[in-house]
Amino acid sequence: MSGIKKTFAPALPVSRDLRIGLFGFGVVGNGLYEVLQATPALQSVIKKICIKNPGKKRLISGEHFTTQASELLDDAEINVILELIDDADAAYEIVKAALQKGKSVVSANKKMIAKHFSELLELQQEFGAALLYEGACCASIPIIRNLEEYYDNDLLSAFRGIINGSTNYILTRIDKDNLSFKEALLEAQQLGFAESDPALDIEGHDAANKLSILLAHAFGTVVSPEELIYTGIAAIKESDANLARQRKVQIKLVGTAKRIGTDKLAAFVLPQFVSADDELSNVSNEFNGLVTESSFADKHFFKGKGAGAFPTAAAVLSDIAALRYNYKYEYKKIAQQANIIHSHDYYLRVFVSASGDTVLDKSNFEWIEEWHNDVNQSWTIAVISAKNLAATRWWKEDGISLILCEDPFIDNVQYKKISKLSLSLAGIE
Ligand SMILES: NC(=O)c1ccc[n+]([C@@H]2O[C@H](COP(=O)([O-])OP(=O)(O)OC[C@H]3O[C@@H](n4cnc5c(N)ncnc54)[C@H](OP(=O)(O)O)[C@@H]3O)[C@@H](O)[C@H]2O)c1
Repeated sequence: MSGIKKTFAPALPVSRDLRIGLFGFGVVGNGLYEVLQATPALQSVIKKICIKNPGKKRLISGEHFTTQASELLDDAEINVILELIDDADAAYEIVKAALQKGKSVVSANKKMIAKHFSELLELQQEFGAALLYEGACCASIPIIRNLEEYYDNDLLSAFRGIINGSTNYILTRIDKDNLSFKEALLEAQQLGFAESDPALDIEGHDAANKLSILLAHAFGTVVSPEELIYTGIAAIKESDANLARQRKVQIKLVGTAKRIGTDKLAAFVLPQFVSADDELSNVSNEFNGLVTESSFADKHFFKGKGAGAFPTAAAVLSDIAALRYNYKYEYKKIAQQANIIHSHDYYLRVFVSASGDTVLDKSNFEWIEEWHNDVNQSWTIAVISAKNLAATRWWKEDGISLILCEDPFIDNVQYKKISKLSLSLAGIE
């Protein structure tokens, strides 16, 4: 037996000691500190913590802290930088300096990563140091490494998911407990689910940042968040929520990516009506959920906490553990599949409502299925082209809300078939 063991024993990659410089000691930084205390087997030591406001009360003694970034970045003993601050611009400078000095970096800062994705790729290539960021997308769900590694050999055709924990928390509390938008947002902030700047969550920027990162790992397509069609939940009106209740559906903020044919990719973050038989209908409160579709595996459904101190710290911890074995993202799909291009060549079935005196312009739609003018608002169910949504802002104006219907996606081929059928039904063809 011992001979067999000897022959087939796998060669373990060499693990290395990690001496950590931690930036940020807020919700996630505190959570990570506690999680590291609870996992001594990882043999990682936090040498110094850099924060912004020296006067703040901390749970651990003052000698651990500094406000001088250079104390961490110039310390040759520190070989890992954890970047867990809430300022994306300062975060980029920290991460850039760390990578240039050959230090590995773990970050949860989706805004910084999405904004500087290409530069960060180049820095990793040039200096050979790893940047990992599992906590930046869906917090505790191990989605980035799965997209990067597991779906490498399978043909991923689509994914859609709830990728922002605080807006999902707000929508759940409004739907299930009749809280007002303001009350639900305040609760999300008090529980540490919301970004320091709530606009990042409720206007959809955070979800767009995450979608942009996920697209690179899922399809090898690098798209900046500004190029994506997106909005958040700030425009959803009480009347929309009531309509959803009447129709026995929920409103969720959903990020979608879907291949069109062989070489194009549709990607958007929009509120959507979700019916009870949709996997995403069971994703409540601060949970995130993501459904992938691929040729051979068919569907996978990932669900887990998408915000909060410990769920995010768990993902950061997993990245730290991966660094011990010198794990890096290889970004293979970016090199291999640069031909999958982000496109607005598709159509969406939408519900659009306008309150007060705001008038909806019928010419924005390809065809209209329902049109209502009620006392306080007008609303429609109609098909709109993604090109219109990408090129205009009328649907983001005050008083207007746009929510995707349950099965909204219509590609070019389906569009031609349906429009031909509707013309012939109308006796035009
Ligand atoms: N909260 C979540 O559920 C969650 C989930 C996933 C990802 N994230 C991401 O994780 C990061 C941290 O979020 P958080 O919720 O922990 O934020 P937070 O509670 O607001 O804490 C931010 C921390 O950053 C420090 N800081 C800000 N600017 C700094 C600078 N220039 N140098 C050094 N330290 C600085 C602050 O210092 P002071 O303590 O001195 O003010 C504070 O400790 C963000 O990128 C966020 O998007 C958060």
